[in-house]
Amino acid sequence: MLNTILITGATGLVGKALVKECLSKGFNIHYLTTSKSKISSKKNYKGFYWNPQLDQIDPKCFEGVSTVINLAGSSIAQRWTKVSKSTILSSRKNALELLHSTIETHKFPIRHVISASAIGIYPDSKTRYYKEDFQGTDASFLRTVVRSWEGALKSFKSLGVLTTALRIGIVLDANEGALPKISGPIKGYIGSALGSGEQWQSWIHIDDLVSIFLFILESDIEGVFNAVAPNPVQQKDFVKSVAKVLKRPLFFPNVPEIVLNFALGEMSAIVLESQRVSAQKIQNLGFEYKYHELDAALNHLL
Ligand SMILES: NC(=O)c1ccc[n+]([C@@H]2O[C@H](COP(=O)([O-])OP(=O)(O)OC[C@H]3O[C@@H](n4cnc5c(N)ncnc54)[C@H](OP(=O)(O)O)[C@@H]3O)[C@@H](O)[C@H]2O)c1
Repeated sequence: MLNTILITGATGLVGKALVKECLSKGFNIHYLTTSKSKISSKKNYKGFYWNPQLDQIDPKCFEGVSTVINLAGSSIAQRWTKVSKSTILSSRKNALELLHSTIETHKFPIRHVISASAIGIYPDSKTRYYKEDFQGTDASFLRTVVRSWEGALKSFKSLGVLTTALRIGIVLDANEGALPKISGPIKGYIGSALGSGEQWQSWIHIDDLVSIFLFILESDIEGVFNAVAPNPVQQKDFVKSVAKVLKRPLFFPNVPEIVLNFALGEMSAIVLESQRVSAQKIQNLGFEYKYHELDAALNHLL
């Protein structure tokens, strides 16, 4: 019988790439979606409806499942209003809590829950080099969200389930996410660095991220891991690399922080914060990156 994996958030940027690779490796996929229109049933790929805000889930999604991969969460790349902030936080917490209570109630024999987390758990710093055992924090919105997300994941330990949190960096994909937002203006000759440009950006190529999920899944590895490429870059160098690959000049001075704060509000933290994050822990376990350097990743994607 095929190994069945239950994936939440399977219809998003990371989920689509992960599903494709899992299917090519012969896994059977069940996925949970909050959108009834996204439910489909193809060979080895079956959708189920859930609504974590309303505690609704179809328990049949767990049939034959031993591993759950949790990617669900309302996007942080939206203006942070009181309402959207509450949804960003609760969508992550409620999703894990609903999975937990359903597994507990029905005594489903789940072995491993692997969940997305984010490098936003690390406080903004231009000098620190973050490893997974870093303990400091602050009261910012991003830190609050990610701490609560990882806290909800830890609660699965009480069910005797292995838990793994992947603290994901900026995911580079050709069509979605951060890269098209950065490369679009540069292609149109209006790109420039953001803020001081000194902030560290810990990126990862989508293919390497998918490989990390499969590495963790297939080796049954438990714990907290950074999912970033081994060579983070400063934002000004990120922009320069994109311009070089696209063969475009950079005419304009950096967009000042004050302009970004005005245009994006509190959410400007996403582009202005600095997190230089280490990939050493997962490498020490034998994971091999395909894209170590930003230029190679950009050459492949752009
Ligand atoms: N992309 C990045 O650079 C990055 C970096 C760090 C961390 N992450 C984290 O990794 C995970 C996957 O990232 P992604 O880029 O693939 O995200 P994405 O494209 O925004 O997809 C997330 C998925 O979550 C589901 N979702 C949306 N709102 C929801 C809600 N209110 N309740 C429950 N589910 C909801 C959606 O699936 P349905 O419509 O099918 O329900 C959506 O397809 C996210 O949790 C994200 O925060 C991503």
